[in-house]
Amino acid sequence: MNRKIATINALEILDSRGNPTIRVFVSLDNGIKASASVPSGASTGEHEAVELRDGDKRRYDGKGMLKAVDSVNAVIAPQLLGMDPTHQAEIDQFMIDMSGASNKGKLGANAILGVSMAVARAAAMTADLPLYRYLQGPGMVRIPVPMMNILNGGKHADNSVDFQEFMVMPFGAPSFAEALRYGAETFHALKGILKKKGYATSVGDEGGFAPDLKSNDEACELIIGAIESAGYVPGKDVAIALDPAASSFFENGVYRLGKSGQGDKTSAEMTQLYQAWIDRFPIVSIEDGLDENDWEGFREHTAVLGDRIQVVGDDIYVTNTEFIARGLRDKTTNAVLIKLNQIGTVTETIEAVRLCRNAGWGYVISHRSGETEDTFLADFAVGMGGGQIKTGSACRSERIAKYNRLLEIEAELGRTAVFESPLRPRL
Ligand code: PGA
Ligand code: ZN
Repeated sequence: MNRKIATINALEILDSRGNPTIRVFVSLDNGIKASASVPSGASTGEHEAVELRDGDKRRYDGKGMLKAVDSVNAVIAPQLLGMDPTHQAEIDQFMIDMSGASNKGKLGANAILGVSMAVARAAAMTADLPLYRYLQGPGMVRIPVPMMNILNGGKHADNSVDFQEFMVMPFGAPSFAEALRYGAETFHALKGILKKKGYATSVGDEGGFAPDLKSNDEACELIIGAIESAGYVPGKDVAIALDPAASSFFENGVYRLGKSGQGDKTSAEMTQLYQAWIDRFPIVSIEDGLDENDWEGFREHTAVLGDRIQVVGDDIYVTNTEFIARGLRDKTTNAVLIKLNQIGTVTETIEAVRLCRNAGWGYVISHRSGETEDTFLADFAVGMGGGQIKTGSACRSERIAKYNRLLEIEAELGRTAVFESPLRPRL
C-alpha cells in the first residue's frame, strides 16, 4: 500500500492564552492530509523537555515560534520524507536522535511533538481507524472520567488560597455524557453560589473560577455546596480531586502557606494537613501535594495517604520513564500525570503509560494550561484506557473541544463503550 510521507510543514499559530504555538501539517503520497497543534504549560516542571521559543523581544515578547517552525520545515521534514507514517516509534526515535540532547532543546520539543502527533493522525487515517483505535495499546479502550478544574488558587489566582486546582470528578455517573452533565451542572451551581456571596465569577486559563476566597477550606466547602445544590451526593456521585502544585509554594526547604496565612510547613506537616482534609472532604486524588524534588517526602506522603486516595505525580515525573521507574522502585506515588509535551513524542508518552499500567498504577491523561482546539488528547486518553482525563472546566472552547470529542467517541462506540472509574467512592 502507498503511504509514504510526502510533505511536512509547520505554521506558527496562537494558543488559548494568545501566545504563539505550532501546528504541523503532514501529507502522504496517498492524498491523506493531517495536522496537529501543540499545547504549552505555565507551571512547568523543572525537568520537562524544552520548548523552543524565539527569544526575539520584537515579536510576541520573545515567545514567537518561528525557530520551531524552521526546525520542522528545514531540519526535520527533509529527513522524514518517504518514511512510512505507521512506523511511529522509528520516526520519533529519528527525531530524538536528530535533536541530540535528551531535553530536545535543539530542535524544540514543541517542533518534535507537532510532527509526532500529526504523523500519528495521518497513519490512523491511512489505516481508516479512529485515532483512539489506532493509538490503542494492549489494554482496552475506555472513556475517561473527567477531572474538571472549577476553582483556582495558588499562582493561578489572586486570593488567599494556596492550592492551585480544585477539581470535581463525577465518577459516580453511568456514562461519560452523564459525567459531563454532572460536572457542568456543578460548575453552574458553583457560579450561582459565588454570585450570591458577592464573589467574582470570571474564569482563569483552564476555565475555573478564581474568586477572592478567604481560605483553602472555603474552596472545598464551596465545592461541596455546589455539588449538593446541583442535586448530587458528594463522594458518591461527584468527588473532589486536588492539584496543589506544591512546587509553586516550596521555598528554601519549606512549604510556605503564605496566601492563607497558615505559615511554613514540613513535608510531614503537609501530609498531616492533607490527611485532615481527606477526613473532612470527599477527596479521592491529590496531584503534586509536595515539591517536585521532594522524593523522600513523597514516599512518606504515599505511605500515609496511598491506600485512601490516588497520589499523583506531575512535576516530579514530567512523563519521563526514567523518573517514573524511580517512582515505581521507591513507591513515591501510586499514579502519574501524563502530558505529551512534557516528554515530546507520542512514542515516549505511550511508554510512560505502559510503565504505569504494567505496575498497576493509575495514570491521568492531561492537557496544559495553554491549549488549542486540537482534540488529539481526547482520543489519546481513550486509547490509553486509563479511565481518567484532566482537561479543564466546563467552559472555554479549547477545553470543551476535548469533552465534545469524548461525547462523539462514546456515541460512536455505542453499547461497547466502557466508562468505568478506576477510583472508588469514599463515603
Ligand atoms: P500547566 O499546569 O499546564 O501550566 O503546567 C497544569 C498542571 O500543573 O497540572
Ligand atoms: Zn499539575
